[in-house]
Amino acid sequence: MNWRVKASLQKILSATRLGDQLNHIPATLKKEYHQNVVRYQFHECLRKYDYTNLDLNQPNYALEIGTGYSIISPIILTLLGFKKVVTVDIDKDITFKTFQKQINFLNQSEFIDNISQRSVFSAKEIKNKLDFIVGCTSLEEALSFSNIIYVAPYTIEDIEDEEITFDYIYSQVVFEHIPPKFLEVLFEKFRSWLKKGGFTVHTINFVDHFTNPGFFQDKKISEYNFLRFSDKQWKFWAGNSIAYTNRLSYIYYHELFKKNDLIILDFIGENYKPSISLALDQVHEDIIKKYKVSPDLTKLTKYQRGTFIAQNI
Ligand SMILES: C[S@@+](CC[C@H](N)C(=O)[O-])C[C@H]1O[C@@H](n2cnc3c(N)ncnc32)[C@H](O)[C@@H]1O
Repeated sequence: MNWRVKASLQKILSATRLGDQLNHIPATLKKEYHQNVVRYQFHECLRKYDYTNLDLNQPNYALEIGTGYSIISPIILTLLGFKKVVTVDIDKDITFKTFQKQINFLNQSEFIDNISQRSVFSAKEIKNKLDFIVGCTSLEEALSFSNIIYVAPYTIEDIEDEEITFDYIYSQVVFEHIPPKFLEVLFEKFRSWLKKGGFTVHTINFVDHFTNPGFFQDKKISEYNFLRFSDKQWKFWAGNSIAYTNRLSYIYYHELFKKNDLIILDFIGENYKPSISLALDQVHEDIIKKYKVSPDLTKLTKYQRGTFIAQNI
């Protein structure tokens, strides 16, 4: 389907108070939605954590930027042995109903055994904790038992009010939704929020989200189609709270880490879906202007997704 159909619908929905939630409903109608979310969160949470060499026998504190619709990832971190996890989002999308559905899937030996291999707790202890969480009668009770602080919507001051320096700051497909100006603020804060030796691990999706799989997917355009448009044109189509993406590639984030003295230990670039190439002369000059130094254009379309693993050394 032409991407402009989805863009128009999202534009209309974003004008309503419940726009983001209404936009999310179609995805949740699939029978195995919650099971798939748990699998995805489980895989991505442990994958990112495994890039660190944190010693969980010491007290460790984590900060997640961009909770989204699932609290499974913070729960897994506390089951590993993190003392506290702060998770923040600009939208309050976690509900007790969704939480209940997802936590039941996590409470299975397949997941518990895997977590216990890395955890300070035994599989039996993790099972006991999950049984308790499954029995909680409110989200507040479950979060409090799990030592999770969920702040949505949040401000920088909310995070600083916790008076915690973190061993681990992470995000999963969130940075591409953050405007460059706020990214600058966040990265500067990461430097002061991270303990010396702490890790910061972020997976970022670099593609035009109108090519994401689903009913409205436009299969005819390049996954870098959005690079063809001026800022003004793109603001018209996607400058709303549901569709916003910053259209930045991995080289932009590379500079941000460097500028804030966060040492990149590794960057794992991935191409996870079939590609439709975009001729480089199609890249709009407004895209090029986003970079301090004129970028090598081939790098703007090199990776569809990537994970930065950095440390405050
Ligand atoms: C694609 S979702 C990913 C959510 C979750 N991390 C996951 O993997 O399912 C992007 C999330 O980023 C959040 N977000 C957007 N801008 C943000 C910001 N400035 N700070 C924190 N979260 C933000 C959105 O509200 C949304 O929940």
